[in-house]
Amino acid sequence: MPVHSTSASDGTNQNGVRLEPWSEDDLDLDLQMLGDPEMTQYLGGPESAEHIAQRHARKVRLPDSGAGRMFKIVLQATGEAVGSVGYWESSWQGEDIHEMGWMVLTAFQGRGIASESTAQAIVQARSDGKYRFLHAFPAVENGPSNGICRKLGFTLVETFESEYPKGHFMQCNDWRLDLFGGS
Ligand SMILES: CC(C)(COP(=O)(O)OP(=O)(O)OC[C@H]1O[C@@H](n2cnc3c(N)ncnc32)[C@H](O)[C@@H]1OP(=O)(O)O)[C@@H](O)C(=O)NCCC(=O)NCCS
Repeated sequence: MPVHSTSASDGTNQNGVRLEPWSEDDLDLDLQMLGDPEMTQYLGGPESAEHIAQRHARKVRLPDSGAGRMFKIVLQATGEAVGSVGYWESSWQGEDIHEMGWMVLTAFQGRGIASESTAQAIVQARSDGKYRFLHAFPAVENGPSNGICRKLGFTLVETFESEYPKGHFMQCNDWRLDLFGGS
């Protein structure tokens, strides 16, 4: 069932996007995003088609496992699929949390689509009520991603060194959102 924000009485929202559960049909979208050097510049570089297919299958299974949800971002006006957003179970500093991630195809960036879609996904995570804290770990140089965290009320906890994929080190920010209360 699509997730809508409640920002307008007709069920649409500022950017006209809706979230749909990630499905078997969305592998091509994942290949466009995770196979693209520009889109993965802060994520350790493009992944192989085989790795992307494995990751895609995990995204499809995610809601059934109860570990989180992954969504396709769809433009209401045209029905075009323009990106993904979601959250999954993770362990961080000894605590079970939800980690969140988002991607928007290059041609559709800079219009607030990721901000609006992430806000909708946060509403869903809050309603799931599984974990108190939602974290995002963007690279410190990833201006738009850090901008989204700041804008949506996440608190910057710290900067740390991350190894992803293996052998590739980068400085990342730990942004945290309290789904049960304040920040
Ligand atoms: C990160 C990403 C999803 C943003 O998508 P988007 O739809 O263009 O994002 P938005 O238009 O909602 O913009 C987000 C905010 O970042 C700001 N921003 C954009 N570029 C910026 C930059 N270089 N430095 C600082 N802020 C920037 C925008 O101004 C906006 O804030 P505002 O609305 O207050 O002005 C997109 O760039 C992407 O897919 N990148 C590749 C994948 C990736 O790195 N994912 C993140 C993993 S943590």
